[in-house]
Amino acid sequence: MDQAIHQRKFGFSHVLDQVGHARQEKFRLNWTSQRIMPDAYILGIESSCDETGASIVRSGEQILSNVVFSQIATHLPYGGVVPELASREHLKAIVPVVRKALADARRTYASVDAIAVTQGPGLAGALLVGLSYAKALAFALEKPLIAVNHLEGHIHAVLLEERQKGNHELNFPVLALVVSGGHTHLYLAEQNGTGWSYENIGHTRDDAAGEAFDKVAKLLGLGYPGGPLIDKLAREGDPAAIRFPRATVKRGRFDFSFSGFKTALRQYLAEHPASPATLPDVAASLQEALVDMLVETTTDALVTTGVERLVVSGGVAANRRLRARMTEAGAAIGVDVYFPPAALCTDNAAMIALAGAPRLAG
Ligand code: KG4
Ligand code: ZN
Repeated sequence: MDQAIHQRKFGFSHVLDQVGHARQEKFRLNWTSQRIMPDAYILGIESSCDETGASIVRSGEQILSNVVFSQIATHLPYGGVVPELASREHLKAIVPVVRKALADARRTYASVDAIAVTQGPGLAGALLVGLSYAKALAFALEKPLIAVNHLEGHIHAVLLEERQKGNHELNFPVLALVVSGGHTHLYLAEQNGTGWSYENIGHTRDDAAGEAFDKVAKLLGLGYPGGPLIDKLAREGDPAAIRFPRATVKRGRFDFSFSGFKTALRQYLAEHPASPATLPDVAASLQEALVDMLVETTTDALVTTGVERLVVSGGVAANRRLRARMTEAGAAIGVDVYFPPAALCTDNAAMIALAGAPRLAG
């Protein structure tokens, strides 16, 4: 997107000057619902982190199959994803996962019109497995190969929900908060002719929000992945029981910082060892601090840019407290907030096929 146009429109040039140079994260996407090839069957493949996924999507909106093989059991003893193990697991899973996606959708390799695959961002060795497999398949079947940005995939999971509700028009501009184990990013999406352009206007300076959930859960001895476990425990706890510090990142930017949580929790636990009785309060208080920071910075970005629609996606978008608090905060400033269905929050290949669909026609 032209930075000069941006500056005139929103009048906060200092922010965009910094943002434009801080990260070269502009990518372009052609999207209109009319241009999606009718009756096109796309095989989506996802292998960016610790889930091997394959999915068949018809006409860019009907999910015929969505197979996810999770490596959670492999990484559980380490409290986080071990890249080398992830690659090996993808190698084992990719062929059966793709076969199952085809069988579930009652399709054959030959009847697929295109293959969409996650090109990044993600773990290099993990991405290579999906990419090499997809390239070989596309070559052998003589079908087009569509490379998809993983974060675009997460955003498309939300759009699908809206299209299925009959809401085919998304008014621009839109702010997208992508919160997962590897990313905490704010994108400003604008319509650009018949396509979209995204601009990264904020990101985490250190840990991603999901990573912070996972790390504190590990310190509490809860297991992996930590987000869903904390979410569950927190329901029985008091979010105001303990006041964990909220990091403030310099004003005028929409960045996040979550790395301080581990130290704060370590210090707290040194003085107050966790017990089954206090664990729900600790979980609820930690979750509250994380959610506060996400909601506050996102609200700041919405107010500053004047954008009236927010799309939240990625694994952490499944968090109940974040869903409630962000919806509430949006309502208070007249912003519509959209979340993906729970099943499409975490990594899956349906979102990759969905994001690839308009490219087939474009
Ligand atoms: O999008 P995703 O499947 O993978 C990445 O691209 O990273 O997100 C996984 C992350 C993990 O860190 C997990 O702990 C977090 O999303 N997560 C949650 C919840 N469900 C998953 N975090 C907070 N609350 C949840 N309910
Ligand atoms: Zn993801």
